[in-house]
Amino acid sequence: MVFGPGALNQLPDLLKTCNATRVLLVTDPGLVKIGLAERTLNLLQGPATCFDQVTPNPNEACLEAAVDVMRSTSCDFVVGLGGGSAMDTAKAVCLRLNHDQSLTEYEIQNNGAQKVTAHVPGCIAIPTTSGTGSEVGRSAVITLKDGNRKAILNTPKILPRVALCDPELTLGLPPQITAATGMDALTHNIEAYLSTTYHPPCDAVALGGVRLAAQNLETAVKDGQNIDARANMMMAASMGAIAFQKDLGVAHALAHPLSTLANVPHGLANAIMLSHTMKFNREAAPDRLKDIALALGCSTAGLSVNASATLAADTVHNLLVRLNLPIRLSEAGVPKDLIPELAAQAIADANHTTNPRPCTEADLVALYEAAF
Ligand SMILES: [Fe+2]
Repeated sequence: MVFGPGALNQLPDLLKTCNATRVLLVTDPGLVKIGLAERTLNLLQGPATCFDQVTPNPNEACLEAAVDVMRSTSCDFVVGLGGGSAMDTAKAVCLRLNHDQSLTEYEIQNNGAQKVTAHVPGCIAIPTTSGTGSEVGRSAVITLKDGNRKAILNTPKILPRVALCDPELTLGLPPQITAATGMDALTHNIEAYLSTTYHPPCDAVALGGVRLAAQNLETAVKDGQNIDARANMMMAASMGAIAFQKDLGVAHALAHPLSTLANVPHGLANAIMLSHTMKFNREAAPDRLKDIALALGCSTAGLSVNASATLAADTVHNLLVRLNLPIRLSEAGVPKDLIPELAAQAIADANHTTNPRPCTEADLVALYEAAF
């Protein structure tokens, strides 16, 4: 990780260290519009090409178009600039360039990592939002061409060589996007800490990430030019993604169908579901929820463990209210009759299998209903 205000200017040196000779910049039209794509292109010394057609929730067609550009220009290195969509596309391009089987062959549940050879070009990831943490992750999520399903490509070979984290790049983000992506980062840290996988180092990172997000998210939303708050949120996002190498939980299982079936942005879906899932988890993980209450900055003096766990969930709910985000699924435009279909997809999502309290489909229905 290369981190700090102005870090983007280190890109030329970092590319040299990585022996990059011809760089493909992968980004989206929004970053072209605000001039950040051009600023980055100017830092790519030597021949470079820009693929600027990354879409939200990138699909196979978007990926293949980027791969075609990389092949036709003989680029040997990729720089991903943007939010999760651009960074994931950049990482997937690296995998796809020399791997021609059907994309599903490289999915996590098909032991995709074992089919990936050493012929994967390197990548530098430059986040422009503070949420997904894809810059420090070994996964890329691409929507398959035959429908709504998202494929998770997961191999250490697509872990970016450098996560180039410059919080100045987030100064212009509007409050609503800062809030939703920041809640995604908070959810990663909280769910990673609660997940049942044994991983004390990730637990420590997760609690630190909860603390940073709790102390800085509201300031970053209300005072977007506050570089300290922006930097701390960028770090909280990276920490969340480091921590969730451990695993996630039921909030993400509930959030994914909300995006694929009802177009709710990922961060907002987590934001709305998170406090409900924390309440649901009280009986299974009260001590861990008490730790989270403390990391959120609550005083638990004189409170029982169970009351402290409830306080953690209430504190997350109150944060959501202060951030002016929708707090109910109905406010986010989700039709209530979609619940059975949402729950059917959520129960098939592996994320809830590491949730501290085991989930039935009826539990997932109840969690969605609680959020309406
Ligand atoms: Fe997430």
